[in-house]
Amino acid sequence: MSDEKLYPVTEAWKKRAFVDRAQYDEMYKASVEDPDGFWGEHGKRIDWIKPFTRVKNTSYDPHNVSIKWFEDGTLNVCANCVDRHLETRGDKVAIIWEGDDPDDHKHITYRELHAQVCRFANVLKANGVKKGDRVTIYMPMVPEAAYAMLACARIGAVHSVVFGGFSPDSLAGRIQDCDSKFVVTADEGVRGGRTIPLKANTDEALKKCAGGEKVLVVRRTGNDVPWDPSRDLWLHEETEKVSDDCPPEEMNAEDPLFILYTSGSTGKPKGVMHTSGGYLVYTSMTHQYVFDYHEDDIYWCTADVGWVTGHSYIVYGPLANGATTLIFEGVPNYPDASRFWQVVDKHKVNIFYTAPTAIRALMGAGDDYVKKTDRSSLTLLGTVGEPINPEAWEWYYHVVGEERSPIVDTWWQTETGGILISPLPGAIDQKPGSATLPFFGVQPALVDNEGNEIKGEGQGNLVMLDSWPGQMRTVYGDHDRFVQTYFSTYLGTYFTGDGCRRDADGYYWITGRVDDVINVSGHRMGTAEVESALVAHPKVSEAAVVGFPHDLKGQGIYCYVTLMAGEEPDEALTQELRQWVRKEIGPIASPDVIQYAPGLPKTRSGKIMRRILRKIAEDDFSNLGDTSTLADPSVVDNLVSNRQGGR
Ligand code: WTA
Repeated sequence: MSDEKLYPVTEAWKKRAFVDRAQYDEMYKASVEDPDGFWGEHGKRIDWIKPFTRVKNTSYDPHNVSIKWFEDGTLNVCANCVDRHLETRGDKVAIIWEGDDPDDHKHITYRELHAQVCRFANVLKANGVKKGDRVTIYMPMVPEAAYAMLACARIGAVHSVVFGGFSPDSLAGRIQDCDSKFVVTADEGVRGGRTIPLKANTDEALKKCAGGEKVLVVRRTGNDVPWDPSRDLWLHEETEKVSDDCPPEEMNAEDPLFILYTSGSTGKPKGVMHTSGGYLVYTSMTHQYVFDYHEDDIYWCTADVGWVTGHSYIVYGPLANGATTLIFEGVPNYPDASRFWQVVDKHKVNIFYTAPTAIRALMGAGDDYVKKTDRSSLTLLGTVGEPINPEAWEWYYHVVGEERSPIVDTWWQTETGGILISPLPGAIDQKPGSATLPFFGVQPALVDNEGNEIKGEGQGNLVMLDSWPGQMRTVYGDHDRFVQTYFSTYLGTYFTGDGCRRDADGYYWITGRVDDVINVSGHRMGTAEVESALVAHPKVSEAAVVGFPHDLKGQGIYCYVTLMAGEEPDEALTQELRQWVRKEIGPIASPDVIQYAPGLPKTRSGKIMRRILRKIAEDDFSNLGDTSTLADPSVVDNLVSNRQGGR
């Protein structure tokens, strides 16, 4: 579209960046024409114990989906993130930790990181954790969360990090699904001046599931917590019993590195499995090129390690590159809405990566909170997690970045392991709201609902035509679900679940999910999960959940609830249902709107017509489509006249 604003790459950035436009075009062409040659070369960016001789061996054929990269190479991911920097960067700061309290911070050098991780790994070993075992990590944003992940990688255990905001039920489901016998947690977490009872939550979770035979507890606040001496271990006591010598385990490139649960359109969250070699090559390479990371940059990604962004762009990508990565325990508005920028000034952050929802919230708090800080250290800004609306983009660019820093709007997913579509700051002119162009080796395409490819300008479902090294390998314990979810919709391609538009310049504009996944403040949620939480309440007979546009959160959660016969809705019940869902899933799933509905729009075969429910939630009654095929068309009138929320 011609009316879109364009922010060309500045001369200064063309000079400083690793690649300019001509180099991007050349490298991109090479990467898709000869993936073996391209990745064979770039695969050498990490240290291999036994070098690979095979590069790409991947198939999207639904009868035989198989994804392998560098399959005969061996390595250790932790050694790549820690040991290999000791010689040249031993005294360099690996992790800057900024506590929730603005007076709290710590610097951890690579040498210290090495000692901490080795001890942690020895504690795991001493307590029976072996190569291939699954370890659940339910932690606040403290350095020990990264130590725990790296310690697992060091000994070949597979970590499953569960976001600290999830409820005991959600934690129990994830412990159970991957049959994890070992849990790492903290006494409490601290966020925005409040404590989060992580240990108590863990205790509750373990009552609800098998597994969790040992619980290793990091002392964060020192407050009293319930204790089971037959099961619970303090990290600070255990580390005293072990040495800091722990040789890294030799792992195959395709050995699992981690499982991370994520929501899909149906059923329970699935365990996205990533492996070692390809993942590390891909995350370290994207971290270098997308953030144009240079040796002395201070890099800060504000995500939580409970999400994939924390895995790939707080821990693995940056540390593989020997970067200084900042881990922030707090929230953007505590003590006040200047906090992000105060942290930037305090630690002289150069590269800053956050989510649109945080940008919108800070924009709402007013420019003064930004303007009273300096921010002159910033050179590059990034966003991830949901589409960024052009207004928020402009504010980020002009007010936060003072027009000096390009913005990399990075599109990717838990499943993709790393960034797939994003501008490279020295190469690609930016358009506010567009993730722009694919990274090396990434081949996006748009298809219509019948699977026909849309060439040139157009809009459709976003798929990938071929594999890249960071791609997930399977759903843990359920390869059929992997095939079904991603490779059976549009044959021969990986289906992302996102809708997308391509403009005349070939730029990609993500329009949001086309499936029953919603994105609330950048947190991915299956509407089915919220529905099953609601129907678990004794007064609820049926529920249907859809997303609706929300100024701050991007999407809000709109619930249609049918009560059991004889139950009457009132405000108290609405509050009770909200609390119920928070308890079942976690506060991030808290319903924004609950509308009581005597009936839901269903086809004669009983399928809920979500399209209609979405339209009503969006306050768009003009286009409800054909309702004549409904079993009872009159329910729609009732839903329309009882729509909740503002207009
Ligand atoms: C959405 C987060 C638009 C998208 C890394 C995707 C985005 C889902 C962007 C994955 C972006 C992520 N622009 N939409 N820059 N980044 N998304 O698995 O719908 O938590 O499918 O991974 O977030 O969310 P996930």
